[in-house]
Amino acid sequence: MTVQLKTNDLSAFFMPFSANRQFKKAPRLLASAKDMHYYTQDGRKVLDGTSGLWCVNAGHCRPRIVEAIQKQAAELDFAGTFQMGHPKAFEAASRLVNIAPKGFDHVFFTNSGSESVDTALKIAIAYHRAKGNGTKVRLIGRERGYHGVNFGGTAVGGIGNNRKQFGALVSGVDHLRHTHDLARNAFSKGEPEHGAELADDLERLVALHDASTIAAVIVEPVACSTGVLIPPKGYLKRLAAIAARHDILLIFDEVITGYGRLGTPFGTDFFDVSPDIITTAKGVTNGTIPMGAVFLKSRIFEAFMTGPESAIDIFHGYTYSGHPMAAAACLATLDTYHEELLLTRAAKLAPYWEERVHALRDLPHVIDVRNIGLIGAVEFASKPDAPGERAYNRFIKCFEKGLLVRQTGDIIALSPPLIITEQQIDELFDTFTSVLKDGDL
Ligand SMILES: Cc1ncc(COP(=O)(O)O)c(C=O)c1O
Repeated sequence: MTVQLKTNDLSAFFMPFSANRQFKKAPRLLASAKDMHYYTQDGRKVLDGTSGLWCVNAGHCRPRIVEAIQKQAAELDFAGTFQMGHPKAFEAASRLVNIAPKGFDHVFFTNSGSESVDTALKIAIAYHRAKGNGTKVRLIGRERGYHGVNFGGTAVGGIGNNRKQFGALVSGVDHLRHTHDLARNAFSKGEPEHGAELADDLERLVALHDASTIAAVIVEPVACSTGVLIPPKGYLKRLAAIAARHDILLIFDEVITGYGRLGTPFGTDFFDVSPDIITTAKGVTNGTIPMGAVFLKSRIFEAFMTGPESAIDIFHGYTYSGHPMAAAACLATLDTYHEELLLTRAAKLAPYWEERVHALRDLPHVIDVRNIGLIGAVEFASKPDAPGERAYNRFIKCFEKGLLVRQTGDIIALSPPLIITEQQIDELFDTFTSVLKDGDL
């Protein structure tokens, strides 16, 4: 029987990563947005402290991007890229390569971070096969890592709640330990001092499985969705060296750290470590039209170009890989980033940002604050009987006071659009501090 729902009934939408019943009793609905702000359905102005979901790096409804999407929708709504093409997909790929870290000369388009990750994992396995190393099929992730929600990404991901509902996932996956160590590193500014040796976990897994069975290791340069875990000094370099030694491809999942979040175009630039594959999404179109971009070094790409010219090089792709609207949005986004120097702006704001983040350290229940680039996080002591409640209550109170923050467990993450001014940073932290002062929340 079909149920007739009222237009505004909230029940039909099965909301992702949400407490559906709780939300629908007291919905938080955003109606419009401009630059640094959202406007709620009831007309309240909310400062965006999270760039939407870590994606709106240039701020909301930027005219150049809006116009490009509108124009593209009227000109060429859809064209596929399987044995066909349209100019903007190629232009977008070339422009992306121009801002990518050195050596990344090729781009595979997807529609999301999750698809970028699964694409990268498949490419890693197929690469080794093409090189005659067909036994290199295992995938290594890291505890507390987040790599989206498709099967591969969920399997290499290391967040228990994201995995437990979904069975055995993908076989042949193992995990490095995570690097979060409050006992040694609490209240670190930027990269923490202790923990580079945790990269040696990869050697442990090589000893266990043998390098001849391992295709790739995937990590986020900064693990953001799990609550902002910043890599210890030297950790990523050490991991890269071990991976290279064993011909294990290193994949940096830069779905969040890509496009200026750390004050360099990519996290790869920030940490001065060169992986083999970089996955991105989100900021590639400033969050407007779904798109992901997987960057490949030439040697990976070339491994697929060795068969007959008439043969399909990779049996992988999405109907919407390089979609015209996404390509147009990407080009206009890159123009905006370029004109406003946004890919490096976070570096200028970072010292002031750091000062304001660390001023939160003595507020009630705070057990850690940490920062890197234009990212900050506050971790609260969990209530023994209600983990997550402290951060959730503070997230709700912030929203009521006109500030959007991102809660995960008992951690609140801050990551505003890169256009934020110092005055708006003050506004953000003044509101946040006033909420955190209430220890009873
Ligand atoms: C590092 C990382 N990888 C993958 C994803 C998944 O991206 P999407 O939600 O676009 O599928 C995210 C999303 O936050 C992410 O942070």
